[in-house]
Amino acid sequence: MATGLASAALFADSVAALGGAGRRKPSFGALKPSLGSRQLTSRKSLRIEATVLKDEEQKVVVEGTLNLKGFPDDNDEAGSQKVSDDSLGAVMERGVIKLEQTINIFLTDTVIQILDTMYHDREYPRFFVLETIARVPYFAFMSVLHMYETFGWWRAADYLKVHFAESWNEMHHLLIMEELGGNSWWFDRFLAQHIAVFYYFMTVFMYILSPRMAYHFSECVESHAYETYDKFLKSHGDVLKQTPAPEVAVKYYTGGDLYLFDEFQTSRVPLSRRPVIENLYDVFWNIREDEGEHCKTMKACQTPGSIRSPHTLVEDELDDVADCVSSKTG
Ligand SMILES: [Fe+2]
Ligand SMILES: [Fe+2]
Repeated sequence: MATGLASAALFADSVAALGGAGRRKPSFGALKPSLGSRQLTSRKSLRIEATVLKDEEQKVVVEGTLNLKGFPDDNDEAGSQKVSDDSLGAVMERGVIKLEQTINIFLTDTVIQILDTMYHDREYPRFFVLETIARVPYFAFMSVLHMYETFGWWRAADYLKVHFAESWNEMHHLLIMEELGGNSWWFDRFLAQHIAVFYYFMTVFMYILSPRMAYHFSECVESHAYETYDKFLKSHGDVLKQTPAPEVAVKYYTGGDLYLFDEFQTSRVPLSRRPVIENLYDVFWNIREDEGEHCKTMKACQTPGSIRSPHTLVEDELDDVADCVSSKTG
């Protein structure tokens, strides 16, 4: 328990250091290592990049860094707080991380086996249940962060923005499943909603105790969602390509304001992903990609203080460029 609370405190310090509203922003250079191959450029070049990717959207795949089966281990710098020394504290830290991940994997595997047994031949109800549950952790994270902010302990504005955008994305997955009829039987709604209530309080408790463990648990869930949709696309691809896309999906993925769509994809530059929706296959293809993006965001979150809003990063980069230009011309 004490170690878990220490972990939460460490996470809080790191988030506070990154700062929400009213705090000094860290330099972009300090954040670059956590962003992998992210290339932040000027607004003009962003537009050009987005146009190119729009034409080639179907070629976009989840980057190789996404480990769908495995979960962060002791050697995984992004998935855990890497501890390289052999002091007693470091050994204990590694043991705690291992224990947290073992518990998470056991819990998710157990729930997945139960749902697989119950829904093996009822795909849309199964997706409805999964998507009802999928929104819950983001709401739970926001609840706890709001509580800390209300107490005056620290602010994490970027975390709130990103987690809200994640829950907004999952809500649209849920709306799509509802339009496909996944919620037509009362028992499926009853089961999904009751699991969601339990899952909410469990996540709140876990997030207070150990944010790292809570984010890892969500990574397990998102990883399972990616695999589920990937299998579905492979087994039902031909039928899906002959089926029209639900209207809610067309509106969400191709509608006017895609700010929140960009916001939850923290490993991407805003405007770099613009789906083309022509049939139901495209819808599920993009839902699967969304799950992959959630997975990457949850993995990054396990390193304290590593997450910032993609839009904030672009604004900071533009500020840096403006400062550089004014210092040269001044
Ligand atoms: Fe989802
Ligand atoms: Fe998800």
